[in-house]
Amino acid sequence: MPIQTTSKIWHNGNLIPWEQANIHVMSHVIHYGSSVFEGIRCYGQPHGSAVFRLPEHMQRLLDSAKIYRMDLPFTLDELCAGVVDLIEANGVAPCYIRPIALRGYGEIGVSPKGSPVEVYIANFPWGKYIAGQGGADVCISSWSRMAPNTLPSLAKAGANYMNSQLIHMEAEINGYAEGIGLDVNGLVSEGSGENIFVVRNGVLYTPPLANSALSGITRDSVLTIARHLGHTVTEQSLPRELLYIADEVFFTGTAAEVSPIRSIDRILVADGKPGEITKQIADEFFGIANGLKPDRFGWLTPVKVNTGDAVTV
Ligand SMILES: Cc1ncc(COP(=O)(O)O)c(C=O)c1O
Repeated sequence: MPIQTTSKIWHNGNLIPWEQANIHVMSHVIHYGSSVFEGIRCYGQPHGSAVFRLPEHMQRLLDSAKIYRMDLPFTLDELCAGVVDLIEANGVAPCYIRPIALRGYGEIGVSPKGSPVEVYIANFPWGKYIAGQGGADVCISSWSRMAPNTLPSLAKAGANYMNSQLIHMEAEINGYAEGIGLDVNGLVSEGSGENIFVVRNGVLYTPPLANSALSGITRDSVLTIARHLGHTVTEQSLPRELLYIADEVFFTGTAAEVSPIRSIDRILVADGKPGEITKQIADEFFGIANGLKPDRFGWLTPVKVNTGDAVTV
């Protein structure tokens, strides 16, 4: 989907015009993939709008930067305040928010020491991510996720998304909405940009982080919601074939939200319709995100923009 421009972008603490948020082709990040980033959603509420799990996302950005020895010159609170200021300045909600910290223009060579760290935050409208009405048709990728101790899966780094691109492109070319990556031992890991959940005999399963999965904020939200609803939840390694005999399978992610999966490698998941537990969890997730159910876990940061106020340039 083409990016819909807004008016401002947050750059190192200042709001600058969208079209001036440029970097030099010789920046370190362009050559060596040295960036860490986030994807966050802001939802419309009955009164105003609210960012979903803003501090958790910004803490993950700080954690990703720490893994890569990237000193971010901003605190958690400053980054969160930057997001609120930006959304209110642009007047665009609901929206997707993309903070990114990168190694900029300085020196050539792998060592990042001489290249300054720059932080940008953009926001823009973005709708549904996973294609497919009533469930997505997906495949298992021939590409594995990153092996442990190669590219760290717990860092949401730009470089990891070269692997995601291989998985996603292969799926797309073969007519699927998304691809599922296995880890190097052949165990289920995650989608190219989503965590994965399986329901079998009433129990909810998701792979543990040690199977090369990102520590998804939506994954955590779904685990919390499922426990709150009284479901049995297990984080454990899953063999590929469990996906084919599952009662329900769904993706979770900021972009994907809670997306039911209809088929995997052309094998229908149960009768191909979204399952009861998936629907129950999705209902609670969207209810909280859209302010239609109580914010019982304290996940929403209000912003003063009414849905429909959106101005674009
Ligand atoms: C590889 C990968 N796994 C999982 C997720 C889901 O994470 P979250 O729910 O924090 O968006 C994402 C999206 O950020 C992702 O890119």
